[in-house]
Amino acid sequence: TKAAVIFDLDGVIVSTDDCHYKAWKRLADEEGIYFDKEINHRLRGVSRMESLAIVLERANRPYTMEEQQALADRKNAYYRELIQELTPEHILPGVRPLLERLKQHGIKIAIGSSSKNSPLILERLGLADEFDAVVDGNAIKNSKPHPEVFLRAAEKLGVPAAQCVVVEDADAGVEAALAAGMRVIGVGTAASNERATWTVASLADLSWEDLAKFLAAV
Ligand code: G6P
Ligand code: MG
Repeated sequence: TKAAVIFDLDGVIVSTDDCHYKAWKRLADEEGIYFDKEINHRLRGVSRMESLAIVLERANRPYTMEEQQALADRKNAYYRELIQELTPEHILPGVRPLLERLKQHGIKIAIGSSSKNSPLILERLGLADEFDAVVDGNAIKNSKPHPEVFLRAAEKLGVPAAQCVVVEDADAGVEAALAAGMRVIGVGTAASNERATWTVASLADLSWEDLAKFLAAV
């Protein structure tokens, strides 16, 4: 079997960080809860409800489960409004050529994301039919750093975990990939993660020759 590549979505294929930030910030402001970019950074790769729990660390009163659900729904409505604006031009540099090369070489590609909004995002980017498998927040019980999302993707592709390479921008995602027994390329904010098997600042900096060698070295 050939290697397969599993891509995280947010921060790897498209930068939705600012949309998440704006949506959480709007919610937090309305609730009188302090929120900033540093707190937002801790939400990378983390599920919506776990993200909310982090946001609520700064709240000055407890919220009931019903209230928490309503807050999460409200944040998501704000977020979906913002991601409606995404277009294929928002695909991050280097992604398209890389997907093309992988396809040319018969290497299977998948999405492994914690986001329940993955279908909408992929559709807005014009990438809904590009991947051999998509496993997202709707299909999993345990979010990263649990390996479930990547193991499910490997299973769907029919490729053993040891032959899968994950591309991740979040520390939680790097840990999830390692826990799945996969090698992981850290990009963007994970480019400084020492646990990653290999790091690049941007997928635009990834030479096909180097990547092909890396994929073959299983
Ligand atoms: C991705 C993002 C996280 C986000 C999570 C859930 O992993 O990096 O910041 O919290 O998805 O997103 P969702 O779209 O389901 O609210
Ligand atoms: Mg990410």
